[in-house]
Amino acid sequence: MKKDNLNKNESRELLEQHGIKMWPEEKIERFRATLLSWYDIEKRSLPWRINNDPYRIWVSEIMLQQTRVDTVIPYYLNFMQQFPTIEALSKANEDKLLKAWEGLGYYSRVRNMQKAAIQIIEEYDGAMPRDPKELIKLSGIGPYTAGAIASMAFDLPEPAVDGNVMRVVSRLFEIDADIAKPASRKIFEAVMRELIDPYKPGDFNQAFMDLGSSICTPKNYHPELSPIKEFNASYINETWGNYPVKSKKKKAVPVFYQGFLIENENGEFLLEKRPKEGLLANMWLFPLVEENRSNKIDDGKTSDILLELNEAYQIKPLLTKKSFAEITHLFSHLKWTISAYYGKVSSLKTILPEDCRWVHPDDFEKFTFPGPQTKLWKSYLFYINN
Ligand code: ADE
Repeated sequence: MKKDNLNKNESRELLEQHGIKMWPEEKIERFRATLLSWYDIEKRSLPWRINNDPYRIWVSEIMLQQTRVDTVIPYYLNFMQQFPTIEALSKANEDKLLKAWEGLGYYSRVRNMQKAAIQIIEEYDGAMPRDPKELIKLSGIGPYTAGAIASMAFDLPEPAVDGNVMRVVSRLFEIDADIAKPASRKIFEAVMRELIDPYKPGDFNQAFMDLGSSICTPKNYHPELSPIKEFNASYINETWGNYPVKSKKKKAVPVFYQGFLIENENGEFLLEKRPKEGLLANMWLFPLVEENRSNKIDDGKTSDILLELNEAYQIKPLLTKKSFAEITHLFSHLKWTISAYYGKVSSLKTILPEDCRWVHPDDFEKFTFPGPQTKLWKSYLFYINN
């Protein structure tokens, strides 16, 4: 069950519980006016800010979840061109969809967006619901995204609390709740519910986002430059160095692979499609074999790996004796380290298993490559050109 947002009474109670003293109404109004006039002058012109179309706002918020604004912009423009409406997204071919997301990572975001588009078509007559309680029922939409859409597209006074907003608010009120703990979000949401401008909630939320990414940054923070410094308790009390409180995340679990760039006599490389479910589902990679003590080529254990490659792919390549590169890739919970090897096969007669193909590099662009695959290919190009 997804938890939805708190109502106003619950918010007040929560603030009291945590000893957060809300400002008097007069101060709240001055704060809103100060922040919004700063935003009017300083707001960045961004492609998802040109109108209130909920679909445009939704796509932008999903892309921006784990990716920076500057990186998102070209992806966003391309995505909106290819899938301009909820209906287009609901009907999109999966390969095209993944291709449009290639390089952004966290592919479940786009898969969930398509599931939600289908839900909207089937259950909401094709129109994005307005109520955050409904929005939150859609695949991939949590309290943050529901609040962002409700406030920006539908002018509802809903908070949209992400890491940036928690950082700004924790400094503003000297809140020492740990922002790495999911339970803390509710506290910040309660503060935002009190502060949010009822007439311009979308601008108000976006002003916090812009402040969080321009002035109220995690490092090199200069509170004296902030338009809202006179409201900032941690600036006034010179305690800003203590906020936000953020415990260290659990370390990603390390996984070691050996990756094989196997080329045939036609200059084609072996690619394998990942399974339909799970990490990097349906994307294409060079064959990867998990490394262990008995198959590590760099330790001279080539015979084991040759057996494994023959069994899995029916190939008997001539392999480099040492890896030509080592690449790493961080997922949210795993850290892959891949030692890369080059291999050559001479026979073209091999029958490849399903989901494996020989592909010429000129055709790579037709396949969706996840981050680790792109890194492997780039490191190979560097290796042969240097
Ligand atoms: N980060 C997340 N949402 C944003 C938005 N609407 N504008 C700028 N940065 C954001």
